[in-house]
Amino acid sequence: MKQIKLTNVLLVEDNAVNARVVQAMLATVESHQFQISIADTLLAALDLLVHSTFDVAIVDLTLTDSQGLETFLTIKRHAPGIPVIILTGMDDEAMALAGVQQGAQDYLVKGKLTKDALVRALIYAIARSQKPAETTVRAPERGTIVGLLGSNGGVGTTTLAAHWAVQLARQTDQKVLLVDLDFSSAGASFLMKVDSRYSVVDASENLHRLDLDMWKGVVSNCRENVDLLPGPGASGIREAPTAERIRHVLRFAQALYSWIVVDLGRLTASSLAILEETKDLFVVTTPELPALFEASRILRRLLEAGLSRERMHLLLNRREKKSSISVEELERALGYPIYGTVADTPDELTEFYAERRFLDENLQVHRQIGQIMRKWRGVEEKPAPGVGRGFLRRLRTA
Ligand SMILES: Nc1ncnc2c1ncn2[C@@H]1O[C@H](COP(=O)(O)OP(=O)(O)OP(=O)(O)O)[C@@H](O)[C@H]1O
Ligand SMILES: [Mg+2]
Repeated sequence: MKQIKLTNVLLVEDNAVNARVVQAMLATVESHQFQISIADTLLAALDLLVHSTFDVAIVDLTLTDSQGLETFLTIKRHAPGIPVIILTGMDDEAMALAGVQQGAQDYLVKGKLTKDALVRALIYAIARSQKPAETTVRAPERGTIVGLLGSNGGVGTTTLAAHWAVQLARQTDQKVLLVDLDFSSAGASFLMKVDSRYSVVDASENLHRLDLDMWKGVVSNCRENVDLLPGPGASGIREAPTAERIRHVLRFAQALYSWIVVDLGRLTASSLAILEETKDLFVVTTPELPALFEASRILRRLLEAGLSRERMHLLLNRREKKSSISVEELERALGYPIYGTVADTPDELTEFYAERRFLDENLQVHRQIGQIMRKWRGVEEKPAPGVGRGFLRRLRTA
């Protein structure tokens, strides 16, 4: 019996009639069974490419959110391993040649399309892109995204996120991107001393043109191995980008950085959608009663939304040294473990800020974030020998 091959096809086409024509052509092929997923916009296509695996893509160039060869090039950039066939209404010799020169497997014109030509183009495109097993390369490593979310405004989310980014670069010696998604202020730019005209809004509005050159223009290098993708600040905001667009910006950045630290600001529908991309989430709160109340509400809400306890941690910022409530009591009240605490050090911060040493490594906040991060990375410092049990034994025998 002849074996029928299952081929997963991404069809990017905004015209439902044209999509049905392609579906009908591929419905009755003897040797192959084609499983077709249709995306009617470029963004929908990029989303499908993230969540599913395809053997081949058929791409119309004229969509509502992207026109011309840019449509094809964007898909190629986001999924370099998938062979792409251009299928367009534009019978344009020069464009066809340019498309093929830039990596398209074929350029088919809708008005002239036959079933045989389409099937042949698909099968050849897949065959050409299949490499012998021993030469296939492993998918490149993608950066890890970690999010910091404030229970309330002003609890220190931006401060901790900025120190987190600097500590990560220092501890790992790898490239870190800090993304400011708190659109109500430009706090991260202030702490990183960045004054840029460009922000995450520009990156998300120009997804189609996003390449390394453009990226270098949008991010600011703040210190060794740390780049900032600034927020627009309250005054620079035109229209908040959709979570979907921001997710694509983050995915693009994952190819360039080992770590991406995202200041998510407060919980909104949009930050909730972005959480899907984060490996770990840190909810920042303070010992103030309203903040604790909000923190426990947010944790509950996120657990209900499907985030696991393993991915979601609570950070207690601004804990006063002489606090009468113990961490254990707070944990009992919250019904959630506290992953790490950062001391309240307003005088120290004021002193350092006066000298514009915002992220100085001698700040207690910086050192404590460093400790929390070592715990998170599983590289906690062991107590020096002689301290700990030996010390306790000596106390008992004294
Ligand atoms: N551990 C700390 N000790 C003392 N002050 C702190 C501490 N952490 C943050 N702060 C101060 O709290 C204020 C708010 O901090 P930050 O801007 O980081 O908070 P936020 O949650 O990002 O606020 P926003 O809601 O405005 O985005 C700042 O003045 C900051 O210096
Ligand atoms: Mg902030």
